Amino acid sequence: MWRARDKHDISGDMLDVQTTQPPPAPTVIHRTDYREPDWLVPDVALDFALDPAATRIRATLSVTRNGEHDRPLRLDGDGLVAIAVRVDGVELAGDQWHMERDALVVPLAGPTHVVETEVEIAPERNTKLMGLYASGGLLCTQCEAEGFRRITFFPDRPDVLSRYVVRMEADKARFPILLANGDRTAEGDGADGRHWAEWRDPFPKPSYLFALVAGDLAANRDRFTTMSGRDVDLAIWVRAEDLPKTEHAMAALKTSMAWDETVYGREYDLGQFNIVAVADFNFGAMENKSLNIFNSRYILADPDTATDADYDAVAGVVAHEYFHNWSGNRVTCRDWFQLSLKEGFTVFRDQQFSADQGSAAVKRIEDVRMLRAAQFPEDGGPLAHPIRPDSYLEISNFYTATVYNKGAEVIRMLHTLLGPERFRAGSDLYFDRHDGEAATCEDFVRAMEDGGGIDLTRFRLWYQQAGTPRVKAVLAWDEAAARATLSLEQTVPTTPGQPVKQPMPLPLRVALYGSVSNAALGGERLVVLDAAQGSETFEGIAERPVLSINRGFSAPVVVETNRTAADLAFLSAHDEDPFARYEAMQQLMIDTLVGAVSTGGADHGPVIEAVRETLVNPALDRAFSAEAVLLPSEAFLGDQMLVVDPDAIFAAREALRRDLGAAMQSEWRHAYDGARTNRFEYSPAAKGARRLRTVALGYLAAAGAPDAAALAFRQFGEADNMTDRQGALGVLANGTAAERDTALAAFYDRYRSNPLVLDKWFSTQALSARDDTVDAVAALYRHPDFTLGNPNRVRALFGAFSANQRAFHSPDGRGYTLLADMLLALDPMNPQTAAKLVPPLGRWRRFGQARAALMKAELTRIVATPGLSKDVFEQVSKSLA
Ligand code: PHE
Ligand code: ZN
Repeated sequence: MWRARDKHDISGDMLDVQTTQPPPAPTVIHRTDYREPDWLVPDVALDFALDPAATRIRATLSVTRNGEHDRPLRLDGDGLVAIAVRVDGVELAGDQWHMERDALVVPLAGPTHVVETEVEIAPERNTKLMGLYASGGLLCTQCEAEGFRRITFFPDRPDVLSRYVVRMEADKARFPILLANGDRTAEGDGADGRHWAEWRDPFPKPSYLFALVAGDLAANRDRFTTMSGRDVDLAIWVRAEDLPKTEHAMAALKTSMAWDETVYGREYDLGQFNIVAVADFNFGAMENKSLNIFNSRYILADPDTATDADYDAVAGVVAHEYFHNWSGNRVTCRDWFQLSLKEGFTVFRDQQFSADQGSAAVKRIEDVRMLRAAQFPEDGGPLAHPIRPDSYLEISNFYTATVYNKGAEVIRMLHTLLGPERFRAGSDLYFDRHDGEAATCEDFVRAMEDGGGIDLTRFRLWYQQAGTPRVKAVLAWDEAAARATLSLEQTVPTTPGQPVKQPMPLPLRVALYGSVSNAALGGERLVVLDAAQGSETFEGIAERPVLSINRGFSAPVVVETNRTAADLAFLSAHDEDPFARYEAMQQLMIDTLVGAVSTGGADHGPVIEAVRETLVNPALDRAFSAEAVLLPSEAFLGDQMLVVDPDAIFAAREALRRDLGAAMQSEWRHAYDGARTNRFEYSPAAKGARRLRTVALGYLAAAGAPDAAALAFRQFGEADNMTDRQGALGVLANGTAAERDTALAAFYDRYRSNPLVLDKWFSTQALSARDDTVDAVAALYRHPDFTLGNPNRVRALFGAFSANQRAFHSPDGRGYTLLADMLLALDPMNPQTAAKLVPPLGRWRRFGQARAALMKAELTRIVATPGLSKDVFEQVSKSLA
């Protein structure tokens, strides 16, 4: 019999158990404290009686003692109250188990037992979106990293792998579809209009990969036959009205399944693969075994509502989650410090996949731009950490650009060092050796060493040291000896907790160009700088050489060179490596703008000439040209300066934009007209044309061309796709023309019932270069369509706003106050999403005294607030330290 405990125990907010004691000081978890689990759980059966207001969960765990010890069984819980506890079929008395904080502790005598618990939770009141929660009429779960303990008592750590049997029962009318991991093995109808389904997952998995969905969903169904002939039923589950928007995701899924077979030799391992789209989700998507759950923004796409960038993101995230089936699920992580083992590797895999589907050059530019926008600032600020962190308060805070994107760069360096064949030998060995295991980053590196035949002793520093290395590269030419010498010097900056750094192995792809012949002087070399200093000689260099270095961004570092503006302009026109070509243009722009900020004026001539040459070069594809002619972001320019002056950067950048626009008006018009298409088509060429068109429009507007607003308004009105429509809206939103308000209102009216598109309406305004953007954001915060309940909406407004450097850093500090007010309102509901938006305030050291003081004051106000979550507390306190 299941004994119901005193009802009062489970009243109140079930998700935050009320205690009279003050909350315990948060404990720091250290990587080196890892210990094997005391108890293993080879099998678990879960029984869900689903109801949004009160869901009952019965869990039956077969537990086995792991090693010789007499420690009790400790089951993690988070806000759970045990209604009953049974061991081997016998109900335990209240003194035979106890709670330690949120964990349930049961002393056990033998080597194996069957332990049963029963709890009740209220998914509809779960605003944290961790555990079992309600979203748009659905019930769904999110367990990574530590959400499973909000559903049932369990050793909620990734090195406890179990086979799951899940029985779920719900009202049939409200929840006709019942999904969980693995394959459905039985289903049936129950009493009172309820029905049930049973799902079994034969692959042992950690609790963070558990998932369940119940709701009224429709499926886009398809099939895939794997390379060994296994037939897989594919389904993408959405609200019925969204079905037409799932074609692109389905195509991407099938392409990624085939790609992983070809490139990594990995095939799918079950008869079903399900994807569910949900509207309220803290991250992008989740790789639960055979039941991926997605933020709907990474599934739904059609030309009317999704931009080309959205299409690319959908394909990239679908591939990413699918690839996790091997890099993450079949081989999982031993502990959360190893997170980059699955995330860095999987991001690298999805980057390779996307590069293979379209323009590899443009994809690389986008990836590096993203790294510089999100990871470099993190690596240079108070929250810097290695890709394998050493400690944390709250693991959710470590789903970072460092773990993901720098982690991917580290894998990419291995790929560069080994070459594709040996890299594949290493990855094959890794998957073979560790299939079914919970592995470490060290296991991965060792497999690469053994399979690839390379010594990675020093390379391991990339897992240990935080901070973006800086490389000084000086090329000297001895004309008489016809010899060029490249001198290299690296420094790894100090980061919190890591005052002393060692030099790391940096694989730098290098080539020299002849400034007279305009040709490459010999082939490309891979120079590995693995000490503080190094040099490389090039013989037979009979003309003045120009240095092309870190081609393809082969190492995630900052390179400083002694190249002149003329050298950079030369490379921007002649380098055969498209990334290096883009990079040379960026560096020329940076040098010009940084010079302008410090001296108050600059010669725009060289940039204008280089941009002109790129724009009119018929050999370049439009997608590349569009990227190459864009100025670096204000934030990236700020990163180049000791003290960021947002207003000066904005002014210098706008002045250059204006001059570029004005000096090249006819070229921009030509590009604009030439990139016009008749009907929407989703192809690399058409995407490139759309991209260049809006970039050209932006320059015409920057030049103050009298017809720019009319052109933009016409593009806005005539567009048969969201890329052109939002592009035009973005250009209008920066200006003051009457068309601006008309277009914003029309956009709002057309899409007010589509939350994903309404997000664009919010972010377009928050990104505006206008002087009154802070006021606009303050008003949008109070707009009836703004809600703290939906993470996408929060990020659409505040993520965009804090990326708008000049607006966010408004000298009066109103931007800071606005963000801090929002964070304090959001934290009690959804600490994870709140914590992710803290870092912009944490960058106070990089700004002048006045701004720094205002930013610190907001951080201090936040940290002084009683009842703050661990998530926000960790981010804010580290930012102040
Ligand atoms: N593991 C997910 C991914 O990268 C991200 C995620 C983390 C989602 C935590 C939800 C919660 O694919
Ligand atoms: Zn991932």
